[in-house]
Amino acid sequence: MRELKYLYAIIALFLISCGQGNLPSLTVEEQSEYIRKGNFISDTVFKTFSFHLQNSMKTGGVEEAVRYCNLAAYPITDSLSEKYNAVIKRTSLKIRNPLNRPDEDELKALEHYHSKQDTELLPQVKLLDEKTIAYYAPIKIKPLCLNCHGIPDIHIMETSADIIKRLYPDDKATGYQMDELRGIWSIRFNRAVK
Ligand code: HEC
Repeated sequence: MRELKYLYAIIALFLISCGQGNLPSLTVEEQSEYIRKGNFISDTVFKTFSFHLQNSMKTGGVEEAVRYCNLAAYPITDSLSEKYNAVIKRTSLKIRNPLNRPDEDELKALEHYHSKQDTELLPQVKLLDEKTIAYYAPIKIKPLCLNCHGIPDIHIMETSADIIKRLYPDDKATGYQMDELRGIWSIRFNRAVK
């Protein structure tokens, strides 16, 4: 009987240690491959986004521009998602659209970047589970962004603030200063089977 107890204990220990995510780590090649892919996707989406944002602000003001702030507004996001088999998202500790709320792992990445605000913030990749690779990269506030994420009454005009409040009643994404960390890119890739 005693032996049996030991046997159970050993089996339990074995199961616990196996269950504790002994994930195979990413190879050095994979790390640089997914950093490169993530950088390319975030740069491309960001360039398209800034271009449309600037144009629409010139022609239709903030009201027009606000409609282009959702990544889903850009066909390039869909085509890159499809091409790279990836889910592309932006998230933050202070969100405007509740749909962009961070999940548990994104929250850790956000806290990591916020704790390093003064040093250089680099993109990172990690294995989330056997089939998923997560890419994170910081997003900083530039002059253009202040129109909608800056300090109300100083950077954000009253009419813009009204439009934003109407569309996003729970908005938390204001009060930012130049160069402040606004949030992160979060891209999830399906890990290619080699
Ligand atoms: C015309 C107003 C406007 C400008 C300019 C603007 N944003 Fe936004 N931003 C928004 C709106 C509206 C949303 C919510 C989009 C959505 O529904 O997904 C948003 C969402 C975001 C999000 C996603 C997280 C969240 O809070 O929902 C990030 C990150 C972000 N903006 C960063 C920036 C950065 C960086 C810039 C400058 C390069 C910028 N924004 C410029 C209006 C703006």
